[in-house]
Amino acid sequence: MTCPADKIGYICYLRKMVITMNLQERLSPISQVIVALDVDNIARAHELARLLQGTGCWLKIGMELYALSGISLIDEFKSLGFHIFLDLKLHDIPTTVERTLRVLAASGADMITVHCLGGYDMMARAADVCHQADTLLMGVTVLTSMDEKHLADIGVTQDIDNQVVHLAQLAHRAGLDGVVASAHEVPNLRKQLTEFLLVTPGIRPAGSETNDQARVLTPQAALDAGSSYLVVGRPITQSPDPRQALLSLF
Ligand code: C5P
Repeated sequence: MTCPADKIGYICYLRKMVITMNLQERLSPISQVIVALDVDNIARAHELARLLQGTGCWLKIGMELYALSGISLIDEFKSLGFHIFLDLKLHDIPTTVERTLRVLAASGADMITVHCLGGYDMMARAADVCHQADTLLMGVTVLTSMDEKHLADIGVTQDIDNQVVHLAQLAHRAGLDGVVASAHEVPNLRKQLTEFLLVTPGIRPAGSETNDQARVLTPQAALDAGSSYLVVGRPITQSPDPRQALLSLF
């Protein structure tokens, strides 16, 4: 039995569409996007994970979601195929951080954060523990909520750009894999630290709401500037179609 030519043509067209869509997903840098699950209930976190499953993006579990769910959520999301960025920004004496990271890294988290202000010894011991578990360790330099006045309040008198580079270099010497920094700091950091991972929040697609982010860059501009991973929250999690919002970033 032969199919009418127009039916065969339509099937060919559909197959071509599917191949093109798959190719677009494979070629797009979605695997460099970390979706921040800043939600106040576990059911919504699960719903978002289901909607984003199979795209190749990472998920970020921050303090709020971790406080609600504990460590079990990491395992659940890993079993759905996601890489996990556990953004708890640890800062304590070296022994306490080391012992805590032993537990967190064993949970299967792929990337964890500590504050660079914890100092060289804290970071070096943290890096050792994480690397034994094959977990990436990132340092938080200066919070983007802080300006020069805030830094002066805590006794830091050099300007923010220099402080960010200073802390990033310390993190590099201590064996960390990279730092979290504003996308606007990336070009300067990239000049000094060519092989370091740079994770950048404050990402907004052109024309979208900036929310409370003061200095934003588009996803492509951040990658072009040298970002390794982009943290994107509300443009995806508050979209009526989170999956499409993610796939439309590039
Ligand atoms: O919704 P939005 O895309 O602004 O979310 C950005 C995420 O990145 C949030 O989870 C926020 O806590 C985090 N972040 C940030 N600025 C930093 C460090 C982390 O916006 N300097």
